[in-house]
Amino acid sequence: MPREVETAAQSPGANGRSTSHTEVEYVAPLAAGANKTQRYLELRSYVMALTDGEPDWLANLANAAAAIYDHVPGLNWAGFYLMKSGELVLGPFQGRPACVRIAAGRGVCGAAVVERRTQVVPDVRAFPGHIACDARSRSEIVVPVIVDQEVVGLLDLDSAHPANFDIEDRRALETIVSDLVSRVDWRAATRL
Ligand code: SME
Repeated sequence: MPREVETAAQSPGANGRSTSHTEVEYVAPLAAGANKTQRYLELRSYVMALTDGEPDWLANLANAAAAIYDHVPGLNWAGFYLMKSGELVLGPFQGRPACVRIAAGRGVCGAAVVERRTQVVPDVRAFPGHIACDARSRSEIVVPVIVDQEVVGLLDLDSAHPANFDIEDRRALETIVSDLVSRVDWRAATRL
C-alpha cells in the first residue's frame, strides 16, 4: 500500500491555490514472477495515491506513465498521447523519444481512436500501418481515454517481447485509464 509523507506540497502553490496533495513514498514493483493480479492491484492503488488531490494534469499523467513503466514487466515505452484538434500529440511518457504527432486512423494509436476501443497487438510487424517509434518494439497495447463519449487521448505501452499483453493486462489497464478520467483535467490537457 502506498504511504503518504508530509511535505511542503500541502502549502499554497505559487498561484495561491492550495492543493490537498501529499507526497507519496516510492512503491517498488513486485519481484519478477509475482502474480499479475497482485501486481496490477498495487499499480492501481499507487497511481490513485500519486494523483490524489493533485489538480495538475501534467504532473498526474507524468507520474502515471512513470508508475506504469516501472511496474508493468517487459516495457520499452509507456506513455500518453493527447487529442488536439483531431490529431494525437505526444504527452508524458517514459522510454525513448517518440513520434510527436499521429493522425487519427494511423498506426495502432490511430486505430484505437477511430475504433474507440483498446488495441492489443501481439506482433506489431503483422499490424498494417504500425508506426515504429522504437525499433525494439514487438508488441503493443493502446487504451483510449474516453470522456463524455469523446476520445481525449490514449495510453500506449510497447514491449520488446512478442505478445507481452493479454486479456488481464487489457482489463487492468482499462481500469487504470478509467480511474484517470476523474484525476486529470482533460480539457486543459487537450488544449492547443
Ligand atoms: N506504435 C504506435 C506509435 C506510438 S509509439 O509506439 C510510442 C502506433 O503504431 O501507433
